[in-house]
Amino acid sequence: MNSKCFCIANWKMYLNNIESINFIKKFSKFELNNDKCKVVICPTYTSIPLLLDLVKNMNISLGSQNISQFQTGPYTGEISTDIIEELGCRWSIIGHSERRQFFNESDLLISEKLKSVYDTSLLTPILCIGETLNEMKDNHTKKVLGNQLDSALSNLVFKNDKDLLIAYEPVWAIGTGISADINVISKNMKIIKDFIKKFDTKNCNIYLLYGGSVTEDNASEISSLNEIDGFLIGSSSIDPVKFYSIYKQF
Ligand code: PGA
Repeated sequence: MNSKCFCIANWKMYLNNIESINFIKKFSKFELNNDKCKVVICPTYTSIPLLLDLVKNMNISLGSQNISQFQTGPYTGEISTDIIEELGCRWSIIGHSERRQFFNESDLLISEKLKSVYDTSLLTPILCIGETLNEMKDNHTKKVLGNQLDSALSNLVFKNDKDLLIAYEPVWAIGTGISADINVISKNMKIIKDFIKKFDTKNCNIYLLYGGSVTEDNASEISSLNEIDGFLIGSSSIDPVKFYSIYKQF
């Protein structure tokens, strides 16, 4: 197990500017210890500049929920790595299942996005992978995770001392209130770890996160798994008290 740990909030499209600012104001009352566990918040793009000022003196970094695979040019509605770096983000979520499902993001597109984030000097990618309910029922989890990793990682030239976070998020556990069973998480984390071994990852630091209905009630049990270096949290991350309670369990 790596020594760092991460509590990452994916606010999706839940909070507007005022709600985001109110969250940070409430959250600022809590004590954070970066050496113990790093807090990253991924708000909507529009809130990022407002929050950056507020989190400046707190142990919190900001990330984007998505990124363009392109560097610059005529790509209406897209945001590049340069732009989010300039905004002050240091993290970027890539390949979230909601992007795959609702915006038709393919493994190929996700591999291009991952490469563009991985190759920056300032950004750390948070790659999301996971199987759907049907894939799980058909016993295809291992194959699906393998294919997603193969596609994403084959495109990378690994670098020494670069961080890469991989979030295992079973699609059927996201936003459903039903997290994966601890034995299932452990088994699938081992599959992911084994699969990564086939790549020459040099001294790239690869951390594994779990995501999918993480709550203050199940965080302690899941975080006790050796394979887990952190959480990617959706619904429970928009309430400062619940989010802090999860953070404290690491
Ligand atoms: P959830 O979302 O915690 O609401 O299940 C997790 C995610 O989408 O990353």
